[in-house]
Amino acid sequence: MCGIVGYVGSEQAAPILLDGLARLEYRGYDSAGVAVYSQRTGTLSVHKAKGRLQVLSDLLQGGAAVEGTVGIGHTRWATHGAPSDVNSHPQVSQGGKIAVVHNGIIENYAELKSFLMDKGVTFVSETDTEVVAQLIEYFYDGDLLQAVGRVLHRIQGAYALGILCADVPDQLIAVRKDSPLILGYGEGCSFLASDVTAILRHTREVGYMEDGEIAVLTREGIQCYNHLMQPIQKEIFHVDWEIDAAEKGGYEHFMFKEIMEQPEALRRCVFPRIREGEVYFEGFGLTEDYIRSIGKIYIVACGSSYHVGMVGKYNLERLTRIPVEVALASEFRYMDPIVDEHTLVMVISQSGETLDTMAALREARRLGGRILSIVNVVGSSIARESDEVLYTWAGPEIAVATTKAYSTQMALIDLLALYFARVLGTVEEENYRSALKEMLLLPAKMESVLEDRDDIQYFASQYFNHNSVFYIGRNVDYALGLEGSLKLKEISYIHSEAYASGELKHGTISLVEDGTLVVALATCGRLFEKAMSNVVEVKSRGADVLALTTKSHREEMARTANAVITIPDTHELLLPSLGVVPLQLFAYYVALMRGCDIDKPRNLAKSVTVE
Ligand code: M6R
Repeated sequence: MCGIVGYVGSEQAAPILLDGLARLEYRGYDSAGVAVYSQRTGTLSVHKAKGRLQVLSDLLQGGAAVEGTVGIGHTRWATHGAPSDVNSHPQVSQGGKIAVVHNGIIENYAELKSFLMDKGVTFVSETDTEVVAQLIEYFYDGDLLQAVGRVLHRIQGAYALGILCADVPDQLIAVRKDSPLILGYGEGCSFLASDVTAILRHTREVGYMEDGEIAVLTREGIQCYNHLMQPIQKEIFHVDWEIDAAEKGGYEHFMFKEIMEQPEALRRCVFPRIREGEVYFEGFGLTEDYIRSIGKIYIVACGSSYHVGMVGKYNLERLTRIPVEVALASEFRYMDPIVDEHTLVMVISQSGETLDTMAALREARRLGGRILSIVNVVGSSIARESDEVLYTWAGPEIAVATTKAYSTQMALIDLLALYFARVLGTVEEENYRSALKEMLLLPAKMESVLEDRDDIQYFASQYFNHNSVFYIGRNVDYALGLEGSLKLKEISYIHSEAYASGELKHGTISLVEDGTLVVALATCGRLFEKAMSNVVEVKSRGADVLALTTKSHREEMARTANAVITIPDTHELLLPSLGVVPLQLFAYYVALMRGCDIDKPRNLAKSVTVE
């Protein structure tokens, strides 16, 4: 979704803004713009361009063509009004005084627009954001903060706003409600951004804005106010992510880099959480008594995080015997969910900012559930609003297609399942021990899967021109298929579906004909024979079968499937963690061969902050 950067300091603002925007490109966008105030000429200059950020950067000679040490920048992901220069942000008020960048949606913009038009204000764009700029100017009588406060009382919806006023050019104003915005504290300068990666080169000291807060940024520092305009003190966090972690480091794509980083991410996520042969969560607030009182677990998430929840359901129920329901966060609010004080609601989100997931969290809390979140981005909104947080420690994930976040989320759910089962006495000692032993071996086994990537590249070269691909599997292999299918469709634009194998004959098998590519997932040993029957079933209708199974079943599978990818044998709980890697690689190589924009697939955003 949209990206915001703001800077006030003593250096030239435009290059800093463009660099920050480049680091937010992964969020997805279709146009970009900056507004910079020049103290020398006393003018506010606004530059915008549809398309890639490079277009804007070339126009501004990397920022060198724009003078001024205070400014705001934006990458826009169109919601109201098509991508165009005029609809890009910053949006500027009629009098040219107020420039605004915005992430989110102003729901009552139409009503406010007609109110302003009745007062004689002329609009130039189709955006909801222009209403904010015009309304600030309408209320502005020399006190910018007060004008912003009056606007906030009138606008409804979700917003992160960066505001620059030509009359007070030594400050920026930032506002947040339901859209992420962080503050950066520098030496003689201050920053504003949608995500820390945008400002990491300049400062590691950040503050996370809460809903309803307003911040005034100057060269001397940042003053924050609550929704009643009372001054507040914000906690400052030190970010210890390495800058390299947010850069490509010689890899052609972030996605490939992040796939390759998975063993290391798992080591960071898992190793500190196994101590002396037991699962250990430092400072964990769920007591043994509470765990015994859990009547039901709800897992709520979107996209790939939801797919982790699907595997999590199988693993949690098998080990703990607690009923687990998995819900799409976008549906949760509208399904009248049954949640009470005995319901543990597990919220999974890489970004910690997905709006639907956040809304589901709030609904679950309202209904009395206890919230345990699994999040990658430290200090993100979902992390802050949860009762308990387990961080995945995967490091910054930039590619839109998630990989290392998925793997670490999965590892945390597995650790939780083992931990709960141990408390409840529902896991046998031997099973518990062997699962933990295998968890410690998981990164090395994953490395061996990654070493075999040439085979997967070869299979991709055989199948990259298919128009439609089916992923089939049972139980955890079905959940794994959902993720493999999503990976393929989101970055290669090939139509793809995942089916529980047993469902094929209830309709979908009619689509299988000569040459249809079916990716058959058969990692789950106890269901291998069933998986084989489905392979035979689709083969006999002419399908090309690319199978995924474990080393111990390779030979048998190779007798029927056209091609076989193998993963090492491991504890059943962990098979999806290994199985997902070849599926990620397959999607990556297919997209590469089709010449797709792998890190920034069309129409998609990394962090989905609108409903
Ligand atoms: O940040 P989140 O985990 O809440 O994001 C959820 C989905 O938007 C995300 O997993 C999406 O499906 C990915 N692009 C899939 O690769």
